[in-house]
Amino acid sequence: MNEEWNRVDHIAAFLNERLGSAPDIVLVLGSGLRDGAFGLSDERSVSFSEIPDWPRSTVAGHNGVLKRGRMGDKEVLLQLGRVHLYEGYSEAEVVRPTRSVMQWGARYLIATNAAGGINEYLKPGGLMILEDHLNLTGRNPLIGQNDESRGARFPDMTETYSRRLRALLVEEATDLGVEFKMGVYAGLLGPSYETPAEVNMLRQMGADAVGMSTVLEVIAAKHMGADVAGISCISNMAASYNGPKLTHEDVQAAAGRASESLTRLVAAMVAKIEPSKVG
Ligand code: HPA
Repeated sequence: MNEEWNRVDHIAAFLNERLGSAPDIVLVLGSGLRDGAFGLSDERSVSFSEIPDWPRSTVAGHNGVLKRGRMGDKEVLLQLGRVHLYEGYSEAEVVRPTRSVMQWGARYLIATNAAGGINEYLKPGGLMILEDHLNLTGRNPLIGQNDESRGARFPDMTETYSRRLRALLVEEATDLGVEFKMGVYAGLLGPSYETPAEVNMLRQMGADAVGMSTVLEVIAAKHMGADVAGISCISNMAASYNGPKLTHEDVQAAAGRASESLTRLVAAMVAKIEPSKVG
């Protein structure tokens, strides 16, 4: 674990050298979600391939770049792309980017993803603000020796997704007229999509949407004291016996369509976040 924290420290130092001091807010954009509408000023970027030990996605549609800049009066980092357990990466590798940006000095993590809707109140193209999650990956990035200087051995997860940030998202979405629902995100290992029986099980467990990312990053960020928000773009309805077959291409295309309202919402929310405030 010490070796892993050494890598994290090196990456944090590298980012500081290449991109300057840490922004307050890190925005992770998942597969198929576009960043075009953010309009960062004073943008500086570094591609994942230039960063030592930064894991790179093997999946089409995950572009792989960090962009640091200003959005209104806020310093933000856009992380375009992430890696997943299903690609064969370890949990430590999956959360290495999150840990590195938090170690660099970021305070807020806004994690976005594409997800399949389970609850029928969700519609493809819509947004779900995460109230909570189910980590059903069977893995946890905090397994192993704990470094107390980074975070607690047994971090509290009572308010994983900040109440304050959720309220802000609801307020901004309402003001913008962006349709949204609140719900629980189930994070699974993948890469196969769920069977209809699995979707029925997830529904009974209390999941409203399902995806293959986010939960490990969020656990790692909470461990380090971050304030976290999560938003899912509902790209499809999760599998059902009468439903269409799911393909990655269709899911990505639908996520791209949903991402327009996501970008508007996130930009509005970022404008309202208090800088340098740890929640
Ligand atoms: N299941 C799992 N992950 C997903 C889905 C889905 O239906 N859609 C987008 N990511």
